[in-house]
Amino acid sequence: MDAKHWDDVAAEYDDIVFDSLAADLRGHMTALLNRLGSKRKTAGDFGCGVGKYLPALAARFGRVIAMDHSAECLVVAQKSCHRFSNIEYHTRNLGRPRDPLAHVDVALCANVLLAPSLRQRRIMLENIRRSLKPRGRLLLLAPSLESALLTHHRRQEWKRRAPKSANGWMPGSVRFASHSAREIANGHLRLNRVLTKHHLREELESELVSVGFRIENVRKLEYPWSTEFDAPPKWMREPYPWDWLIVGYVSGTRG
Ligand SMILES: C[S@@+](CC[C@H](N)C(=O)[O-])C[C@H]1O[C@@H](n2cnc3c(N)ncnc32)[C@H](O)[C@@H]1O
Repeated sequence: MDAKHWDDVAAEYDDIVFDSLAADLRGHMTALLNRLGSKRKTAGDFGCGVGKYLPALAARFGRVIAMDHSAECLVVAQKSCHRFSNIEYHTRNLGRPRDPLAHVDVALCANVLLAPSLRQRRIMLENIRRSLKPRGRLLLLAPSLESALLTHHRRQEWKRRAPKSANGWMPGSVRFASHSAREIANGHLRLNRVLTKHHLREELESELVSVGFRIENVRKLEYPWSTEFDAPPKWMREPYPWDWLIVGYVSGTRG
C-alpha cells in the first residue's frame, strides 16, 4: 500500500478504515493515553491517516507531530483538527531507511504496520525506535491473525445456527476461501482487496524485540462484532474481535 493508494482513499476514508479509538470496547487506548499524556511531552502519530487519534493526542500532550506518507490524508487531518494549535503535520515515509522523523516521548503507530514485507515493517519500526526519546513509549496497534481466524469460526457457527440469516459480512471482512494456504500461514489477508499483514501475538513481539524494543505489556483492543458483521446475532458476544495493542520501550529506558 503506497502513498498513492492512501491518497486515493483519503476522501472516502471513513467507509474503508474503521475508527479503532471510537470502537475500543474497554477504553484501553484512552486509559493508556491518559496515563502517558502530559503537557510537557511530545507525541508522534506515525501514520496518522486522516487524524482519528489527533484530537485525543492534542488534548493530552503539549506538542503533537502528525506524520503520514499520504499528503491527501494529511490535508483531511489538518482540516478536521484545525481547532488544535499544537499539532504539526509532516509528509513522511516511515518505510525509507534512516529517514529522520521526529523526537518524541510517546510514539503511536495505529494500524500502520500492514505491509506484507517483513523488511518494510522492520524499517518502519527502526525509524520509530530512533525517534523515541530516552524513557519514551511506543503504542503499537496491529491487526491480529488470531482475531481474523476467530471471526471465521464465528461465521461458521452462525451459519450452523441460522443458515438463512448468516450473510452479514462487512465490506472489509476477510474471506478465507479466497486465500491460499501460504497467504493464511503468513497472515497476508485481503481487506478491501488489499493484502494486509495480520500478526500473531508472539510474531509481533519478536519483530519488536528484533529491532531493539522491549515489551512492557500486550493487550487486546477489543471491538464490537458489528465491526466484522452487519447485524450480528445477539448470542455473538465475548470473546470479541481485536487488534493487538503493545506498549514497548527501548532497552534501558524503562520508566
Ligand atoms: C489503516 S490507516 C491507519 C491510520 C491511523 N493511524 C488510524 O488508526 O486511524 C494506515 C495509515 O498508515 C499510513 N502509512 C502506511 N505506510 C506508511 C509509510 N510507509 N509511511 C507513512 N505512512 C504510512 C497510510 O498512509 C495510512 O494513512
